[in-house]
Amino acid sequence: MNVYDSELVAGILEEKDYQPAESYEEADAIFVNTCAIREGAEQRVLARLGQFKTRKDAASDTVIGVLGCMAQNLKDKILTEQPCVDFVLGPDTYRNLSGLLDQYHRDEETFINTRLSRHEVYDGMFPSRQEGINAWIAISRGCDKFCTFCIVPFTRGRERSRPVESITEEVRRVTDQGFVEITLLGQNVNSYRHDRYRFPDLLQAVAAVEGVKRIRYTSPHPRDVDDSLLQVMRDTPRICNHIHLPVQAGSTEVLRRMNRTYTRDEYLRLVDKIRTYLPECGLTTDLIVGFPGETGAQFRETLSLMEEVRYDNAFMFKYSPRPYTKAVEFPDSVPEEEKSRRLQEVIDLQNTITLENNRRLIGSTAAVLVEKDSKKSDQQWMGRTDENRVVVFDKNGELPRDVVSLRIADAHGVTLFGEHVRET
Ligand code: 5AD
Ligand code: SF4
Repeated sequence: MNVYDSELVAGILEEKDYQPAESYEEADAIFVNTCAIREGAEQRVLARLGQFKTRKDAASDTVIGVLGCMAQNLKDKILTEQPCVDFVLGPDTYRNLSGLLDQYHRDEETFINTRLSRHEVYDGMFPSRQEGINAWIAISRGCDKFCTFCIVPFTRGRERSRPVESITEEVRRVTDQGFVEITLLGQNVNSYRHDRYRFPDLLQAVAAVEGVKRIRYTSPHPRDVDDSLLQVMRDTPRICNHIHLPVQAGSTEVLRRMNRTYTRDEYLRLVDKIRTYLPECGLTTDLIVGFPGETGAQFRETLSLMEEVRYDNAFMFKYSPRPYTKAVEFPDSVPEEEKSRRLQEVIDLQNTITLENNRRLIGSTAAVLVEKDSKKSDQQWMGRTDENRVVVFDKNGELPRDVVSLRIADAHGVTLFGEHVRET
């Protein structure tokens, strides 16, 4: 979502004839689009601001703005503690960004706008995209779920969906620009609802746009995954066979205290249902260890759930206390070293499962969408399968955006190695 928002900000400025600089050392204005989800993300932004300050020391009329969730979270604290920052803008205030820049040039006064909107979906504003394969498209903003650990409902405000026509228009634009994969984005993507359209209807509308090869979406909430979504995924080949299904924890009691609104059993039954509709579906997740009061036994329920589901991959986090949230008030008896130990244990387990899942694919064939040179060699491509697995293979005349059929020959960690299937 932050990549999308940065592209949106670039689009808003380019519309007013601002040009991107080659590097921050040459920029007249520097915007830092920020994340507040965990404390570590905020620390990284503060370190980056220190770097940008050197540009301002060299050219004092350089403007520095802090945008996004951290702006919303810390507000005027940023202006008082980071004197190099000229303005602070929350995620619902970008529409008039160039007007604000003009105003700043006129008055030379720092300012702050962190008003959240019930309606802003940046309708009619188009991001300036860099990369040429996958286009991120936000279909909704904000979140009303209020998981007790999460700052997003406070930094991004109430949930609101964009009209279908505005989304399909953006899809048409990006396919005209040569993008072949669309990833629909929302903090809570599958609770999309606009007029009579719900998320599965939107998926069908997007799949009907010519030129779209693959459609992905992230992140759904398990509570809002229903039969109609799975039916549409099964019946629409362009929608990728992958679901990122954040579980957060394996213990029903922890899930209750997280306000996730499902039990361990309900989640596992949902996974069964997904595999009934979509037998080969790639499954990935997010999970948190060391939630306040998580006992050793409750933590082991996360491990056993991982073994049961056998995710293809996972984003794993140590709980980070966030302001405004309910969980920050819960008594937290898990020592820091124990949280780190638990994190390492889930990472090790997931690495083992990922490798085992990938090894099982050796000998099978996969349709791979070519993306770019592999990290290690310009003689090899990197691409993705429908299930979102990364495959590296030798170049053989194909180009980015092509879909090639490969035989999986090997697997190391999260990466698969493919070979061209010889025609007989
Ligand atoms: N601490 C740790 N992880 C968090 N996430 C959200 N809030 C926190 C927090 N306070 C994780 C969740 C979510 C992902 C985007 O970030 O796993 O799914
Ligand atoms: Fe945060 Fe996701 Fe929960 Fe919304 S559904 S509160 S974004 S973790």
